[in-house]
Amino acid sequence: MIFIDNVVAMEVMDSRGNPTVKATVTLSDGTTESAVVPSGASTGKREALELRDGGTRYMGKGVLTAVENVNTQIADVLMGMSPFNQAAVDAEMKRLDGTENYGTLGANAVLGVSMAVARAAAASLEMPLYRYLGGANAMVMPVPMLNIINGGSHADNSVDFQEYMIMPIGFDDFSESLRASAEVYHNLKKILKDADHNTALGDEGGFAPDLSSNEEPIQVVMQAIEKAGYVPGKEIAIALDVAASELVADGGYRLDSEDRTVTSAELVDYYVDLCEKYPIVSIEDGLSEDDWDGWKLLTEKLADKVHLVGDDLFVTNVNILNEGIQKDIANAILIKPNQIGSVSETMQTVRLAQRNGYQCVMSHRSGESEDAFIADFAVALNCGEIKTGSTARGERTAKYNRLLEIENEVIYGEYLGAELF
Ligand code: PGA
Ligand code: ZN
Repeated sequence: MIFIDNVVAMEVMDSRGNPTVKATVTLSDGTTESAVVPSGASTGKREALELRDGGTRYMGKGVLTAVENVNTQIADVLMGMSPFNQAAVDAEMKRLDGTENYGTLGANAVLGVSMAVARAAAASLEMPLYRYLGGANAMVMPVPMLNIINGGSHADNSVDFQEYMIMPIGFDDFSESLRASAEVYHNLKKILKDADHNTALGDEGGFAPDLSSNEEPIQVVMQAIEKAGYVPGKEIAIALDVAASELVADGGYRLDSEDRTVTSAELVDYYVDLCEKYPIVSIEDGLSEDDWDGWKLLTEKLADKVHLVGDDLFVTNVNILNEGIQKDIANAILIKPNQIGSVSETMQTVRLAQRNGYQCVMSHRSGESEDAFIADFAVALNCGEIKTGSTARGERTAKYNRLLEIENEVIYGEYLGAELF
């Protein structure tokens, strides 16, 4: 019987120059696989704990304690276990930790090992990761949401909303969608350059120009779609991640670029207005994680037309999502494995969402690595959507390039496009 023979971790670099955990699992048959954990900037309050060392090393962001937890406590309990029972492996780490949010071991320690075990199990069986995790029914190629203008806490520009994304919904397959998106990206660069805007990139590979309102980026993206020769709304739609938890101030939501503070009801009206003017199909974190009344209003006003995605709101947590479902809040959920801490718990949240008709969007973090685990994971879970940045920066394109490979292998698969809405 094949068993887990060794578990080790080391500190490596993420895409923002901060340290993160790389875990490596070796099986008794000699299979060795690794995984690297991502890290967010606009994190939700109820996310699982990302364990950082503090002190002066790496400005306090070192992860040597998390690494040590993998090398000692986690290795001790997992060695000898079967790698083919992911749930048992993940449950064992949860038991060892003893808290709800991985407050002892660190979710960065646990998730790294959880992903590396899945990858080692797949490799040992000579199966691609998506096929191992999803089985014969893993077939849906996700529609990408490409973040081509970055603002908020992902860039040093004046734009308050965090992400302006394009969604190629009018194409038959993933590769054509990606091609069209890259063409829009290049046209956007040209438009920005011609208008003397900065074309430096933000954390997720999108541009980060100083624009004078939160609506102007939408107008510029519309122009780029048209300039690339596509019909906005029909072939390429628009999605926003407001990351509104970051805007809470003065008893409302502070829109610095427009020099005004608005209530949740005013912000909801603003979204309704934007959705009437532009082909917006998805709004993520339109209100803050604590503003459930605002979310209720937003859901009442827009849920029949637009995907309302809970990111900071649900933090990939099955219990919080359940609360949202009971209260009829939102109709979609962002899926970030490191918000909850293990592969099995991520899958549990996706199952609850899918049973209740909530659209799942597999997602990267703003701090990433070359690890493309989420590309396989999105297909494994038939998520239908993936958010993993622009078509620039290697840690973002790693995911798209992996999806191109998967698309070549998947037979009888589908790319849902406009069918999602
Ligand atoms: P984060 O941003 O990784 O910084 O949290 C991504 C998002 O808000 O979706
Ligand atoms: Zn978000």
